[in-house]
Amino acid sequence: MTRLVAVSGSLRRESANTTLLRAAIALAPSDIAVTLYEGVGDLPQFNPDIEHDAPPLVQAWRALLRDCDGIVVACPEYVHGVPGAFKNALDWVVGSTELAGKRVALINASGRAVHCHAALVEIITTMGWIVVDQASPVIPVAGKNYTQADMIGNPALAQPLLAALHAMAGVPAMAD
Ligand SMILES: Cc1cc2nc3c(=O)[nH]c(=O)nc-3n(C[C@H](O)[C@H](O)[C@H](O)COP(=O)(O)O)c2cc1C
Repeated sequence: MTRLVAVSGSLRRESANTTLLRAAIALAPSDIAVTLYEGVGDLPQFNPDIEHDAPPLVQAWRALLRDCDGIVVACPEYVHGVPGAFKNALDWVVGSTELAGKRVALINASGRAVHCHAALVEIITTMGWIVVDQASPVIPVAGKNYTQADMIGNPALAQPLLAALHAMAGVPAMAD
């Protein structure tokens, strides 16, 4: 069993990034368990003064990451950068050296969002995590108002999503 944690960089209720991750959860085969972390917006502002005696929500976030085999990220671009709430979530785990080497799927939900994607590759690599290129497709759903069912029912969206999960599990995707 491969255990993945999915994290959206958007707090928006109708977020395309979050919907894409929910579609990934629905598509995942029985040997890949994907859990959506929904606490990004609830984390306190990062403060190095309390980094080593962190609040319970932060400890739970760290524990979830520690206990998984990999992380699936889908994050929108805000003003050519990483949304503050998501960067804040990452800042809380920069010092968690036990998380070094975590494999990360960096799914880009918009082909236009090249700056945020490049920044996240730099940030995640600097954190000591590993971006898995084969698990990091561009799946253009941003701004399209697709539902989860739309995504699952569209092979052009569902197949790269499923292939990304398989890449995270270290097995080749099944040919259709
Ligand atoms: C404050 C703000 C800034 C944005 N800046 C950019 C940008 O620089 N580049 C871009 O491609 N899209 C930008 N967008 C568009 C979002 O990335 C796009 O709406 C995306 O679908 C939002 O993701 P979500 O649907 O998961 O919330 C911006 C949106 C907002 C709200």
